[in-house]
Amino acid sequence: MAKKLYIKTHGCQMNEYDSAKMLDLLQIEEKFEIAETEEQADLLILNTCSIREKAQERVFHQIGRWRKIKDKKPDLKIAIGGCVASQEGKEIVKRAPSVDIVFGPQTLHKLPELYKKKGKTKSAQIDISFPKLEKFDHLPTPDHGEPSSFVSVMEGCNKYCSFCVVPHTRGHEVSRDIDHILNEVSILADKGTKEIHYLGQNVNNFKGLYKNEKSSLAKLIKLTSKIENIKRIRFTTSHPHEFKDDLVEAYDKVPELVSHVHLPVQSGSDRILELMRRRYNIEKYLSLVERIKSIRPEMSFSSDFIVGFPGETKEDFAKTMDIVNEVKFDESFSFIYSPRPNTPASDMSDDVSPEEKKERLDILQSRLSQFSFGYSRKMVGTIQNCLVMGQSKRDPGQLQARTICNRVVNFAYDGIDLVGQLINIRIDDALPNCLRGTLQN
Ligand code: SAH
Ligand code: F3S
Repeated sequence: MAKKLYIKTHGCQMNEYDSAKMLDLLQIEEKFEIAETEEQADLLILNTCSIREKAQERVFHQIGRWRKIKDKKPDLKIAIGGCVASQEGKEIVKRAPSVDIVFGPQTLHKLPELYKKKGKTKSAQIDISFPKLEKFDHLPTPDHGEPSSFVSVMEGCNKYCSFCVVPHTRGHEVSRDIDHILNEVSILADKGTKEIHYLGQNVNNFKGLYKNEKSSLAKLIKLTSKIENIKRIRFTTSHPHEFKDDLVEAYDKVPELVSHVHLPVQSGSDRILELMRRRYNIEKYLSLVERIKSIRPEMSFSSDFIVGFPGETKEDFAKTMDIVNEVKFDESFSFIYSPRPNTPASDMSDDVSPEEKKERLDILQSRLSQFSFGYSRKMVGTIQNCLVMGQSKRDPGQLQARTICNRVVNFAYDGIDLVGQLINIRIDDALPNCLRGTLQN
């Protein structure tokens, strides 16, 4: 009987991409099948995230639950990957001896080898090294293309924002060669992908080689738009500091580049941005927004925010609300600051109470959702060009599509032959988490 595999993923889109690659790899190289439940699995993988606190505790709680399954099924293997694994390494096995394999974001291609080795020995297999781009050379070529596919173009981050653990867990920035990426995109396009979503922690600083010279994200986007069948291009996540002129110009030259960008501002206060080591101030951020809007007036912006950064005053927070009101962000993410190991901000003194931080988060989130819901409501009655992603999760009698700004639209349709197509939908209703619409001919 085929061995079965179950993967649980915490965290960002990069982790989702990595998990999808682990699945492909283990299906191809070790002939694993997908387990529907954790109890059915012969290998359980947890792809972890350490961006905010409680991440470690969440991991050990999960291992505790899985250990109970292992008690009844001693051959079951447990593997821990991702950023917590990278940060904690062998400490994970010390604290949780039921763990068999520990691997980092850059060594996931070694999973089949680590799994085989673990079968032959009792000792846990640990590899959390950063072997640059080796991972991408070892990942299988895609054998199917989702309507929208993530493609990771770089790893790591060199920005060292004072609050962030990513440079410590994912290592320094390394970009893939453009030919390599375009090859992956062409295969995906042949297999039905219409939308490419480029991923990197700091994706606009992509510097992959093209014809032996360092190139740019703008160049990659232009070349991607020439691939037949690719109708939409997105990228996440951008650092406002390195959003260069050629990338701004790409909004003029490449119609396939969607009119939506995630541009995390984090705070509206220059004082806090400086303490965060973000390398831009609000004037620069706003001028970038204006430059993009002067090319694409319909452009929609989303952002990440941190409230309660050490020493954030009421005035600093008021400035964050000012920028929200000025840019009128679309669907955004906001978090209470969480001290991370080995980051400079974790040593800064912090006199804001947890209650005050929670109150600021509530104020910010309610304003953000007002804007976001406002955009949804404005769409009612309009026709939106949407990419059909698959069946609706809630209602299998409906299909689910995505607008240009990535909103979910559910619409009634008999059959699935529209999946992967770009179609026009009239928006009839705006609900807090999705839109409802009718297919237009
Ligand atoms: N590279 C991206 C950020 C990746 S992390 C950028 O340049 O913005 C995703 C988001 O998590 C960040 O934008 C930030 O808002 C949040 N985040 C990161 N570290 C955090 C921390 N220590 N506490 C709270 N939120 C944090
Ligand atoms: Fe983190 Fe700043 Fe890089 S938020 S991922 S260090 S750009």
